[in-house]
Amino acid sequence: MIIPDTVDKIMDATRIEEVVGEFVTLKKRGANLLGLCPFHNEKTPSFTVSVAKGIYKCFGCGKGGNAVNFLMDHEHYTYPEALKYLAAKYGIEIEETKPSPEQQQAMDEKESLFALTAFAQKYFQEQLHETEEGRSIGLTYLKERGFSLEVIRKYGIGYSLNKWDAFCQEALSKGYKKEYLLKTSLAKSKDQQLYDTFRGRIIFPIHNLSGRVLGFGARILTNDKNKPKYVNSAESDIYHKSKVLFGLYFAKTALAANDNCLLVEGYTDVISLYQAGIENAIASSGTALTSDQIKLIRRYTSNITLLFDNDPAGIKAAFRGIDMILEEGMNVRVVLLPEGEDPDSFARENRPAEVKAFIDNNAADFISLKTQLLLKETQNDPIRKAARIKEIAQTISLIPEPIARTLYIQKCGELMKVEEKLLVAEVNKLRRKKFSQQRTESPQEEATTLTHPAEETSEKQTTLTITNDFQEKEIIRLLLHYANHDILFEVENEGRKEEVAIKVLDFIVQDILDDKLEFENEDCKLIFDLFVQSRQDGRQPNNQSFTNHTDERIRNMVVDLLSTQYTLSKNWEDRHHIFIDHEEDILKATVMQAVYAFKLRKLEKMIELNQQQLKTAQENQDISEEEVFKLLETNNSLKIIRSRFAKELNRIVTR
Ligand code: CTP
Ligand code: MN
Repeated sequence: MIIPDTVDKIMDATRIEEVVGEFVTLKKRGANLLGLCPFHNEKTPSFTVSVAKGIYKCFGCGKGGNAVNFLMDHEHYTYPEALKYLAAKYGIEIEETKPSPEQQQAMDEKESLFALTAFAQKYFQEQLHETEEGRSIGLTYLKERGFSLEVIRKYGIGYSLNKWDAFCQEALSKGYKKEYLLKTSLAKSKDQQLYDTFRGRIIFPIHNLSGRVLGFGARILTNDKNKPKYVNSAESDIYHKSKVLFGLYFAKTALAANDNCLLVEGYTDVISLYQAGIENAIASSGTALTSDQIKLIRRYTSNITLLFDNDPAGIKAAFRGIDMILEEGMNVRVVLLPEGEDPDSFARENRPAEVKAFIDNNAADFISLKTQLLLKETQNDPIRKAARIKEIAQTISLIPEPIARTLYIQKCGELMKVEEKLLVAEVNKLRRKKFSQQRTESPQEEATTLTHPAEETSEKQTTLTITNDFQEKEIIRLLLHYANHDILFEVENEGRKEEVAIKVLDFIVQDILDDKLEFENEDCKLIFDLFVQSRQDGRQPNNQSFTNHTDERIRNMVVDLLSTQYTLSKNWEDRHHIFIDHEEDILKATVMQAVYAFKLRKLEKMIELNQQQLKTAQENQDISEEEVFKLLETNNSLKIIRSRFAKELNRIVTR
């Protein structure tokens, strides 16, 4: 782990505009910098960088954060990777804490496996380009298939000599241990003898998200039906097939930029599409699509287009993929290629623009696809039609989001000419069945997955309707913006009027603590407590510690609040028909107004609670007269305080 002191040093040195500026062209606009958002397509810039606050925020798509978040979002770095990037950029030496001996051993072992796969990748690549056999057999084959030298290099493609143990010998002589050769399945052993797993094959390296090689897929060069077309690395401590997608390392930026992921079946499909200028294709390579893989894609986009062969196997795989993707709450479209084509051949035989246009024009949602197939297959045979409709309903029932479900039901009704009512009933039946299955499988989950609409509403009636989220956030916003600013109060000192300066931090914290008021929004509460803590420690609160908070929700809230200005003062401008360009000019009034509004809202909640108690008391015969009386008394005094507060608030606002 990078020690906190180093994190502070890195954050202190980091200039948000320099970090973002490497990826986005920024222009000065007032106190901020403005550019085109790299996270969504826009023509007029709404991506703002605040140099003073060290944050960015897009008012178009809502993304925001500090320099670390930017790198995590834009470059898809992990947190430590982003910090290391910044440390390198600003020449800061990283100090890390020592892992435990067990952690160290596990790390060492993984590192050894990575070191070996990296070595193997380089070795195979060298064999392809620099040996007689590699060039005459491997390279010739790849060139015949139309792959350019450029993409062959880019994907790190290699060749394994058709020899018994050429690679093993080389690796052992370079000091790589037998143990790791076996663990990465680069070698196998027979009668104590090591031999190469891949022999006489084209080698496709498989990368993780940071570009390290995890394993390999090795393709045969002949049409020999007696040998497997592919030999693949086995699972290992570094290679978990269900969590890896071929090509994702090279495609991730294009996935985000296109806001779409093309999912194909094979390595060669990905590479040919790339060569045709379509850079957002990836493959699940050999394994059936898993939910982990879909979640991986979701980090970059929530739209997936399946591009599968137009044959029974391809269609079956597509249908399975559709269900998995919908179940993860993502959007899916399907492109069926002309019969007899796969993405690889299609990309080679057509010009890039034609390939793009074909995909765009033929991407169908699953209902259209299933209907299309149905019409072809059933010729209106009612029994088969009914079976297909049930299948579609089954797929729709997997969609977690109710609005999306409803839209699909409508579409299906139109296309299949069935009454929506029937479809709704069928989908509901399937969902109930699914939930009751889940219930028996995992009883703990019941509460979260099984909320009947009826239960939801009755639940709401017993909770309070008044929320003070807005008021709580406004307090936090003012603390984030102005904690260290002074506001002036008049006090009488021995008969003379004097002005004293009080820090916004002190004023707000003291006032809220005095009244023992608590925040209800957990994130607000956490941030408020951090302010209280820094005040106790006599430290100046520092926004960096918030924008760099480990909890993503806190970071997001802070960035949002730091980039919201004038929520209340806007009110003022309208009321007074004046233009105020600095909230700071009316800071005292703004702060006091916020504190009163916060308290008033609390009070209103207390009143609501009290009234609910009174109502239950009325309905409940057992309750004693005395208790009812107490409740009424409370009700009275709460209302008196409320009117005092309201007056005070009104005085501040209209003064
Ligand atoms: N696959 C595999 N083992 C096999 C066949 C296929 O692991 N015996 C996996 C590979 O990841 C392959 C994918 O399934 O990339 C798709 O198979 P296929 O279309 O047959 O292979 P391609 O890579 O497309 O190869 P080619 O275009 O040369 O036929
Ligand atoms: Mn193929």
